[in-house]
Amino acid sequence: MQNILFNDIKHTLAGLSDAERGRFKGSTVLITGCAGFLGYYMMHFFAAEAEELGIKKIIGLDNFMLGYPAWVKKLEENPKVEIQKFDIIKDKIEHIAGAEEADYIIHMASIASPMFYRKYPIETLDANIWGLRSLLDFYAEKSIRGFLFFSSSELYGDPDAAHVPTSEDYNGNVCATGPRACYDESKRFGETMCMLFAQKYNMPIGVARPFNNYGPGMRIGDKRVPADFALAVMQNRDIEILSNGTPTRTFCYIADSVCGYFKILLHGKYDYFNIGIETPEITIAQLAEIYAKAGRDIFGYTGTVKYATSEDKEYLTNNPQRRCPKIDKARTLLGYNPSISVEEGVTRFLQYLKESEEGEYKW
Ligand SMILES: NC(=O)c1ccc[n+]([C@@H]2O[C@H](COP(=O)([O-])OP(=O)(O)OC[C@H]3O[C@@H](n4cnc5c(N)ncnc54)[C@H](O)[C@@H]3O)[C@@H](O)[C@H]2O)c1
Repeated sequence: MQNILFNDIKHTLAGLSDAERGRFKGSTVLITGCAGFLGYYMMHFFAAEAEELGIKKIIGLDNFMLGYPAWVKKLEENPKVEIQKFDIIKDKIEHIAGAEEADYIIHMASIASPMFYRKYPIETLDANIWGLRSLLDFYAEKSIRGFLFFSSSELYGDPDAAHVPTSEDYNGNVCATGPRACYDESKRFGETMCMLFAQKYNMPIGVARPFNNYGPGMRIGDKRVPADFALAVMQNRDIEILSNGTPTRTFCYIADSVCGYFKILLHGKYDYFNIGIETPEITIAQLAEIYAKAGRDIFGYTGTVKYATSEDKEYLTNNPQRRCPKIDKARTLLGYNPSISVEEGVTRFLQYLKESEEGEYKW
């Protein structure tokens, strides 16, 4: 395993309390969407720490609609890891050996990149609605320890200025018929289902609302901004900004955010949380400069930052102007405490990609 990933996993583990770590003991963990960005990181985390945490088995499921990554085969050499082709929309979870015994269920199957979910809008909707529903039905009356649904900060849509930074009690400003609706509205409806199942069956469902993660595991052809900028740096061509550069975001490095997701999973009762980092809220133009600088240091990058127009006419429609979380709720109730700055995170991500280029994982 590359150094960066190894150290990141240790950082994530260090963020969990002894009590939280203890809750994994003797468990089977089932993850849908295991071949994506967050899946890559979580599967590597569990494979690396299963022994330490006393985890019995990790079952990863994915329909590989965006490709079959080379690392999957490698990870399966670990006897505790099983990865299977499975479509959460139409395949039956009861046909998966070991699903019945799962203690922790993580439902992440859903394309997260706007460029790609807009190519597969109905599949995106179905994974978040019917896929989630089939899991909730299957586990409703089983004795599970935790169920984590991946919602999104996109649930808030384009918040008005008075609600940025955004806390969990903001209801959102979402367009039901815009180009992002398949994603945003299916996450919203998914959250409603989680709430109703938790009420009716007393299920320990946690809902995560991630705010712009980046880092190892992100496919550099993924078309999300942190991946796009990394690709430009690696190819030593100019970084292209496809907006006027002024929209702002906070960027949360994966080693921090996954610690937050695990805390929700292990919380043991229904609740929903923003997971991200509060500062710094930076423009896309500032992020591009951070990539260019780190790229110069790590790859000897010689390109510059320039502006371009996306071939996709709807690229900027309903794109939120500001996205910045309040994470007080996760801090207070879960002890979530992200610490990796965007400069450090970008440096780590690019270093990881350099190691991958030279090492066993090719992207
Ligand atoms: N990464 C972020 O910053 C972020 C932000 C907000 C929300 N999320 C949510 O977190 C989850 C994971 O995000 P990610 O960045 O890893 O996404 P990703 O697009 O990198 O990966 C998603 C994975 O789900 C799989 N998948 C899609 N439909 C499926 C289906 N019907 N059956 C089985 N597998 C299917 C894909 O093949 C892919 O491997 C998603 O639910 C996403 O909406 C992520």
